[in-house]
Formats: sequence, structure tokens, C-alpha cells
Amino acid sequence: MKAAKMLIDKEFRVGIIDNRIYGSFIEHLGRAVYNGIYEPSHPLADEDGFRRDVMEMVKELKVPIIRYPGGNFVSGYNWEDGIGPLELRPQKLDLAWRTLETNEIGINEFAKWSQKVDTEIMMAVNLGTRGIAEACNILEYCNHPKGTYYSDLRIKHGYKDPYKIKTWCLGNEMDGPWQIGHKTSAEYGRLAAETGKAMKLIDPSIELVSCGSSNTAMPTFPEWEAVTLEHTYDVADYISLHQYYGNKDNNTSNFLALSLDMDNFIKTVISTCDYIKAKKRSKKTINLSFDEWNVWFHSNESDENTMKNNPWQKAPALLEDTYTFEDALLVGCMLITFIKHADRVKMACLAQLVNVIAPIMTENNGGVWKQTIFYPYLHASLYGRGIALNLVVSSPKYDTKDFTDVPYLESTAVYNEEKGEVTIFAVNRDLEEDLLLECDFRSFENYSLIEHLVLECNDLKAYNTLNHQPVSPKRNGQSKVDNGRLEAVLHKASWNVIRLGNKKN
Ligand code: AHR
Repeated sequence: MKAAKMLIDKEFRVGIIDNRIYGSFIEHLGRAVYNGIYEPSHPLADEDGFRRDVMEMVKELKVPIIRYPGGNFVSGYNWEDGIGPLELRPQKLDLAWRTLETNEIGINEFAKWSQKVDTEIMMAVNLGTRGIAEACNILEYCNHPKGTYYSDLRIKHGYKDPYKIKTWCLGNEMDGPWQIGHKTSAEYGRLAAETGKAMKLIDPSIELVSCGSSNTAMPTFPEWEAVTLEHTYDVADYISLHQYYGNKDNNTSNFLALSLDMDNFIKTVISTCDYIKAKKRSKKTINLSFDEWNVWFHSNESDENTMKNNPWQKAPALLEDTYTFEDALLVGCMLITFIKHADRVKMACLAQLVNVIAPIMTENNGGVWKQTIFYPYLHASLYGRGIALNLVVSSPKYDTKDFTDVPYLESTAVYNEEKGEVTIFAVNRDLEEDLLLECDFRSFENYSLIEHLVLECNDLKAYNTLNHQPVSPKRNGQSKVDNGRLEAVLHKASWNVIRLGNKKN
């Protein structure tokens, strides 16, 4: 058996994890909102039409922040269409996904749902077809207490208390030619800077996210970051990163290495931010908001067909990727990558949450189930809060089509000082062999094993359905702890969560 070595020390720290790295995303797209979180005719719908079974699953994930309402959708959205009496709300064409938007759900309903599932909203404004005035108006509607046109309108609509939404995205993927109102870096930089300036005059307590690149393959990456930040550096607090991966050529060893591309992406964006910081002689540091990430490719062909040949439907099935076991492994590697960069990645949103490239799936008028990717996301959100530790790891490596020196072991550890717990997250990327992990954690005196959770499956392409869940975690990991040393067998192609706790607690 191959072996990997790890040293964990409680004093070697990357930084405190911002819980918002376990955020998610809900867009007005496909069946995410309509027939996802909202289905008034469903037997389990509550008094507001929200599905209770879906809310329960979202709560189980403890999602700290949810980006809304898009995505590509936001770049053609009139937020005013979604407020006021339902019967007066217009039905409109959504050009991003070529569907019909009924506007039954708008900011007030979404805020109500967010409160029910105990999450914060990350709000995006339309900088595609709209601009400074509309962004200011929605901010005034949401956050201003009272006594102005838009704040009083909110009160008139029945929502007395301002929402105090803290985080605002200045548009979405404005570097992408597919975006409605796509802009050059200079055009976007100017508009975002002026919009952000005006928004902070209304509410100086908000935090702003400047649009970064839509993915690492964009021809304008990383020049886009450099040019836009020249404009937005002083007003923005974060820059966004988006990235989706797929196993299109069915090369799983290569696919599982894609988190190394993500790691490089993060490093490049950090360097670009810090280059502009130096250029501006600024004392301020821009942090990263990785506000769209996931595996996304299974549904591409069928979506193209629907949008082209069957447009203008209400809540059609779009972007309904069925996730396999191997997808869950990559999602685990991506989560580990965020934790490793906890000092600079302060927010991240698994895109998305329900039905649309989602961990949670529903049937119209039927049940709800957990996709394979639900589990690494759940484990990271539950046990990945605290201090990200800087491990020393030595792992055997392999080469693939696109990568060299890919460590078989992808890992990180999180120290929750308050609970007296350390959790090791580890993926064995080896598809053929188990890996022996020898870990020295002697600085954590009196710590013993709480549990070793494992997500594994003989079939890399296995997936979950409403009635059959072959991919779900078990507490059957092979771990032994003795006197500050851990020996664990990480099964081939597996996601592992090894929880150690202080006996004295
Ligand atoms: O999450 C799906 C889409 O992916 C979003 O609308 C867009 O921002 C990205 O391209």
C-alpha cells in the first residue's frame, strides 16, 4: 500500500475560516425557485408556498449565505417586477435562459424564505441592462429604514424592518460574451466603481464584490482582474471567481486533479489583487469571493436543446445535472482547496442549491433527495468551522493528461478550539489502491478519535435517486489513534472526514 505522511500542529495556522465559504446560490433559473424552494400546490408547502421538506434539507446544510437572484438572470432583471401585489406583477421573458419569469417570487419573498432557513442573502445587482440608479434603488428598498420613496414602498408592501443585506455583487460575469450587457474590462470597471461609490453613500456598512473572471479559460483572464480592480479597488471589498469543471472526456484521474487548476486560479487572483494594491500604494487588501463553483457538464447538451428548440417555458428542467460519486470526490477536493486558502477566500457559493446543478433535488409534487455532492458539502459545513491549519504533507504523486505531480492525497485540517475538535478532510485520488495515512498530531494532547466518516462506492459513476441512495456516507473508516499519532487507511477513491476530539471535553 502506498503511504502518505502528515504533520498537524495547532500553532501552524492559515487563518480563521470565514463560515461564508460554505455559502450557496439560488438563481431564477429552471426549477430552482419555482418548483424548487417554492411550490404552493405541494402537500408540504407552508403558508407562504415554500416546501418544508426542501427547507429542512437546506437547514441541515447550515448554509450561512445564499447568492440571489443570479447569475446570468440578474443581468436582464428588473427587480421592481418582483415587488408589490402579486396580481400586478408582470410576466416577462428571461433572456439569459430563454424562459418565462412570472415574478411570483421577488426580494421580499426570498428574504422571508432566507429567514426561515436561517441564512444571509448575498444580493446581486443588474449591471448588464441597468446601472447606478437601479442598484441604488434596490439598496434603498432593502436597507434604508424609512422615510424615503423606496424604503416607504417596502413598508407599504408589508415589510417594516429593513433587511440590512450586507453583501452586494456588482453585476455578474460581465467578462462573458454570453452575458446580457457584456462589457469590456474598462467599461465594467468604470460602471462598477461608480455604482459601488453611490451604493456606499446610501449604506456605508455594506460590502461589495467586484466581478472577476468567469473561469480560468477566459481569454481576458487575468488582465480583466487587473484592469477592473484599477477602477474598483477603493470601493470594492472582494473580487469574485467562478469555476465549473466536468469530466467530459471520461478521464477520472485527470478530472480529480482539476482542483489544482482551482488552486492556481486562486493564487493568480490573489497575486493580481496584491499587484494592484502595491501599484496604488494601498493599505487595503481585497479578499476573494468564490461565488460560483461546482461540477457542471452532465446537462449541457439537453439544456442547449431546450433553450434553442423549446424556449419560453415556466420553470423548465434546466441544468439538472445528476451527480455521480466521482463528482462528489472533486467537490470534496474543491472544498479542501477553499479551506487551504482561508486567509484570502472569505466567501464561496456552491452553485447552486436546489434542482439547478444542485446538491438537493425535488420532484414536482413529489419527494426530495440528496445528490452525491450533498455529503462533502455537508461535512465541510458542519465540521470545517474554526481555524484552518497549515499541514505538512508528503504524498505519492501521479501525472495525468493535463497535470504533473498530482498528490494522491488531497487534505486539510480544521481546528475548532471552542469544541476541542480537529477534523481532517482527505480525498484519496488513487482509483486503484488504498492509501495509508500516517499522521502526527502530538500538539493536540489527549485527543482521541470521535469518528471516521467515509464516502466511497465501487462504481465511480453511481448516483442517487429519490428511491435509491447508493452514495451516502458511513461511519466505517479504518482509523487508529495512539498517543498523538493517527494511522488511517484511506480507501481507493474516497472522501474521508476524520474527527478527533479532546477527551477532557
Ligand atoms: O450557475 C449557472 C450560471 O453559471 C450562472 O447563471 C452564471 O453566472 C454562470 O455562468
